[in-house]
Amino acid sequence: MTARQWTADTLLTRYDEVRSHTERLAEPLSPEDQTVQSMPDVSPTKWHRAHVTWFFETFLLAENESGFKPFQDKYWFLFNSYYEAVGPRYNRAERGVVSRPGAHDVGVYRGNVDDRVRDLVSSLDQGTIDKLAGTIELGFHHEQQHQELLLMDIKHVLSLNPLQPVYAGSPAAHAEPDALGWVDVAGGLVEIGHRDAGFSFDNELPLHQQWLEPYRLADRLVTNGEWLEFMADGGYRRPELWLSDGWAQVRTHGWAAPFYWTEVDGVWFEHTLHGTFPVNPGLPVSHVSHYEADAFATWAGKRLPTEAEWEHAVRTDTAADNGDTAEPVGNLADTETFHPRAAGEATGRLRQVYGDCWEWTSSAYLPYPGFHPPAGAIGEYNGKFMSNQMVLRGGCALTPPGHARASYRNFFPPGARWALSGLRLADGGEPR
Ligand SMILES: [Fe+2]
Repeated sequence: MTARQWTADTLLTRYDEVRSHTERLAEPLSPEDQTVQSMPDVSPTKWHRAHVTWFFETFLLAENESGFKPFQDKYWFLFNSYYEAVGPRYNRAERGVVSRPGAHDVGVYRGNVDDRVRDLVSSLDQGTIDKLAGTIELGFHHEQQHQELLLMDIKHVLSLNPLQPVYAGSPAAHAEPDALGWVDVAGGLVEIGHRDAGFSFDNELPLHQQWLEPYRLADRLVTNGEWLEFMADGGYRRPELWLSDGWAQVRTHGWAAPFYWTEVDGVWFEHTLHGTFPVNPGLPVSHVSHYEADAFATWAGKRLPTEAEWEHAVRTDTAADNGDTAEPVGNLADTETFHPRAAGEATGRLRQVYGDCWEWTSSAYLPYPGFHPPAGAIGEYNGKFMSNQMVLRGGCALTPPGHARASYRNFFPPGARWALSGLRLADGGEPR
């Protein structure tokens, strides 16, 4: 979905930027690191590198390269993620048992497709560029999504290693939670959805109206320190705080703390991409499920915001309202912290809007009024997942710059914890 005017040169410049960034993210990882699948939700690094390549091969080269032949006959089967219209695919939960192609050979595959994409795009007239730019740009944003997933996934892989390997970065200085402020929002009849000429996924459209009662949002994310208070007050042991499905998960999985926390001699430690350290109370809590976020909000006497409340507040808050008009700023992956950081000084406006943690909302992931996925296999990109998932907003410390905006809708099942997710509280419009 774009109205941007692309040329062969600008497309290829962007193509090289996005593709080389994926390889930079994989650089600190050995071929063995890149092969492990630590749980069904996690994909091996080399699979991510190959799958985003398959995307360009399948949706751009196969349909537009004269005399197209796949790089390798079975790659379409190995690296198709979920596109039924493209054909059968290898079992997702068993990606980690596939030793070949190895990390090096995935690099050869990437290089081959890169050469062919460059040859193809360089040979196209402007009219054909105009027709194909949407697919190529979707490939950029698709690869950026996988750049974020690659980091979330390798975080889990490394978390299971007793050697406590470091991916990159260094821990933030100790911080204490600062006072929580609130930003009042008038509500009313508001517009929700993507609205400018830049790229969006189909699920951010159409732009439409929604009615919002007056409300307010916390000016920062919930912190580890506040989460420790929730735990100390029996947060994980009190069924009255929990949604029924959430309480069932607490009982089934023995949840007693956020996903990457472990207790050693009475001290809580957190696994991060830069090692394992004592939980830092001033940093945002992360790797909590929607169920945990909801239980915390109930314990705090508040609630989670709806996705429309989040988006409208961001657009009307001067400090944060750069979602569709300028590059959103925040603790995104270009800061290379690879972890949420403290909120910084209060401004009277929303802090930590972009980056740090994806923020759980209370909204089910559903089509906007008038939503129609595109025809063909690419229509499977988003629409078919609009069931049993909750929306998250804002991006996280692993989100590539250029991949966060006010209308962006991320989504995960409510029990998911391996994603870099946290929460911001919401409340009615009047102070209690
Ligand atoms: Fe994908």
